[in-house]
Amino acid sequence: MSLKIAVVGAGYWGPNIIRNFNQISAAEMAVCCDQDTDRLKHIKNLYPNINPVTDFDEVLKDPTIDAVAVCTHVSSHYPLAKKALEAGKHVLVEKPFTAKVSEAEELVELAAKKNLTVMIDHTFEYTAGVNKMKEIIKEGLLGDILYINCSRLNLGIFQRDVNVVWDLAPHDLSIIMYALGMEPVTVRTVGMRLLHPTQEDVAFVTLGFENGAHAVAHVSWVDPHKVRSVNVVGTKQMLVYDDLDALAKIQIFDKCVDNPPHYDTFGEFLCSYHYGDIHIPRLKEAEPLNVMCRHFIECVESGKKPRSSGESGLRMVKILAASDESLRNGGKEISLK
Ligand SMILES: NC(=O)c1ccc[n+]([C@@H]2O[C@H](COP(=O)([O-])OP(=O)(O)OC[C@H]3O[C@@H](n4cnc5c(N)ncnc54)[C@H](O)[C@@H]3O)[C@@H](O)[C@H]2O)c1
Repeated sequence: MSLKIAVVGAGYWGPNIIRNFNQISAAEMAVCCDQDTDRLKHIKNLYPNINPVTDFDEVLKDPTIDAVAVCTHVSSHYPLAKKALEAGKHVLVEKPFTAKVSEAEELVELAAKKNLTVMIDHTFEYTAGVNKMKEIIKEGLLGDILYINCSRLNLGIFQRDVNVVWDLAPHDLSIIMYALGMEPVTVRTVGMRLLHPTQEDVAFVTLGFENGAHAVAHVSWVDPHKVRSVNVVGTKQMLVYDDLDALAKIQIFDKCVDNPPHYDTFGEFLCSYHYGDIHIPRLKEAEPLNVMCRHFIECVESGKKPRSSGESGLRMVKILAASDESLRNGGKEISLK
């Protein structure tokens, strides 16, 4: 029997979720809900089998709908997901989970009480590149991780209800926490409003980890080129993950710096540099959203905890809220413990 799905929100991102559920035989992509009738017409043209509705209550009242995917703007995630859980539906919520920590806590509790699945679309945890990076770090090929530097830059898309950190940094934060298997203990964010009247459109988020490692995420809606890169610096080797590089998404550089025990020159006294080969591992590519949607179905059917669970969405919202606190206080370090 296939899982009957409704998607709420068919703006920019929702159609990607609709397309993927529609391709999966274990799912029946049954209903699309959007307040905008033009968007519904567009979806109906693409998928005549999908029932378009403007009123979310219609979705909730339909006892045959098993699960709802919430793909609306961030501040509406909480009320829509809450209603869906109260109506006994499993929920898949777009990143970031909610706009407030208290909302995410309430949804996690509600889902547990009702024995329903709540999963967040932390898309990058379902990419071949990030899973390869996780494997390489776990095998110790990079040595101890000292520093991670992420850049997620482009021109737009400007959001109305959240700043660039809430919009883009969830990708980098989820990559870092998933690949390292560690959570940050401090966050410091500086940002600026260049073009957006009310929200920061460029920001630098710095995370500190218990073991002394650091990560920096540079996120921007006002850069001329699209950049999606993660550089990981280890004591033995360095790794670059470039999501836009079709042929070499992951590159491992056999580069590091040693402090030699003996030295004859001032240069040697400072450091000795090691330059070796570059290795490009082969990746088994699949569309990350397809992998994510399949994982959601599997978790609903088996009752197992999703990889990007409600709890991981809550952890993310806590970091984003602390990042806002830091922004408001001129980049002050905020403890996450
Ligand atoms: N995972 C990713 O890589 C990724 C990428 C982009 C966006 N997103 C996320 O997807 C979500 C949606 O972003 P977007 O850019 O598509 O937004 P959008 O504004 O383009 O689309 C939102 C749609 O939701 C509809 N809507 C809003 N409230 C509604 C309600 N109560 N009932 C019915 N319809 C309603 C709007 O009419 C609109 O069509 C956001 O949470 C965003 O962070 C995720």
